Amino acid sequence: MIRPLWVIKLIRGARMQSEGSSSGKKTAVVIGALGVIGRYIVERLEAEGGWQVVGLSRRQGQDRPGVRYLSVDLLDVDATNAALAQLTDTSHVFYAAFQASAGAASGYASNVAANRDMLINSVSAIDRVAGGLQRVVLVTGTKYYGTHLGPYRTPSRESDPRHLPPNYYFDQIDWLTAFQQGKGWDWTELRPQTLCGFAPGTPMSIVPVIAVYAAICKELGLPLRFPGKLGAWRSIYQVTDSAHFADAALWAATEPRCANQAYNITNGDYFRWCNVWPRFAEVFEMPWAEPQTISLTAQMADKAPLWESMVKKYGLQPYSFEQVVAWPFGDYVFGSDWDVMSNVTKSRQHGFEAVVDTEEMFVRLLEQFRAQRIVP
Ligand SMILES: NC(=O)c1ccc[n+]([C@@H]2O[C@H](COP(=O)([O-])OP(=O)(O)OC[C@H]3O[C@@H](n4cnc5c(N)ncnc54)[C@H](OP(=O)(O)O)[C@@H]3O)[C@@H](O)[C@H]2O)c1
Repeated sequence: MIRPLWVIKLIRGARMQSEGSSSGKKTAVVIGALGVIGRYIVERLEAEGGWQVVGLSRRQGQDRPGVRYLSVDLLDVDATNAALAQLTDTSHVFYAAFQASAGAASGYASNVAANRDMLINSVSAIDRVAGGLQRVVLVTGTKYYGTHLGPYRTPSRESDPRHLPPNYYFDQIDWLTAFQQGKGWDWTELRPQTLCGFAPGTPMSIVPVIAVYAAICKELGLPLRFPGKLGAWRSIYQVTDSAHFADAALWAATEPRCANQAYNITNGDYFRWCNVWPRFAEVFEMPWAEPQTISLTAQMADKAPLWESMVKKYGLQPYSFEQVVAWPFGDYVFGSDWDVMSNVTKSRQHGFEAVVDTEEMFVRLLEQFRAQRIVP
């Protein structure tokens, strides 16, 4: 049913009033809640207070006060409809589910069917039962601009044209914007770049790649060499701290100006690997040396037994090699021998002004990884 704009505004106003006057709690459904983005959004909402959080993924998370997890395969329409029928109180959806296709991470964007269908199945099921839904925050990424394909126009702006498909982001955005027409809720799309966090089991983050690679080199008595392309060593790059992204997601969910808008979300600065690499070697108390281009996926293929022995030797957390690190993701990031830069002015102008010092972030996260016994 298509409602006129004044009816939608009236309904929204009534919702906000009832939200303020009755329970005062908002209910967030975080889809993909155990991933390198979803985990941090759940924790951010928990820390914020005033939110009931429901996390969705196939694996079961650990329930705690204010946070509960539902285990569901979003590709199973009947199971999704059945499990999500209870989410009648949903006020906000954060969509950060993802299924990679096999092989190189640069090809992940072409895994269209699964990623489109998970969004359609979950958002349709929630829209059907949640009359008080206010906003759907969709996480896409800078692959929107073709960062994974080769050189592109930088710094990229949200209004830049798409690259030639396939890219599942396009299918997700097109479906969501069409589905939202005439509804009482709106959407916000966020485009981060190369997340920096930790999510065991879905390790699409560059920090565990650096940490485990450094630990293995050190164990083998080797210096820390940049394993990527020579051009990538000196190109300009950018990343997004997962915790910073979660701050942005909370802003995007609650800021009126974000209605039906897309935003680039990165740390807000740029760097070159050649400048930060020596800092990584310092954290791991090891020498560094000139780059040597290798395929991490190929060279690390036989290192699981070595990693298992290191887990025992150094009393590390008992994550398997596959749970802790995604080597194709490392090859993808370290293979970008072109500038990768987003313009984040729009998000700043609309109220999200936080920035992260990327060099400081890397050092902090790598030190945390050592302190938490994820790596020695
Ligand atoms: N990571 C990055 O560096 C990065 C950078 C830019 C953009 N992005 C984009 O951000 C989005 C989220 O990516 P991410 O890196 O956070 O992914 P991720 O760490 O791999 O997490 C994916 C989440 O989706 C869940 N999931 C996967 N298949 C599912 C299914 N069939 N049913 C229910 N849940 C399912 C996973 O849990 P289960 O496995 O337990 O189901 C997990 O919680 C993607 O579109 C990605 O392209 C990511």
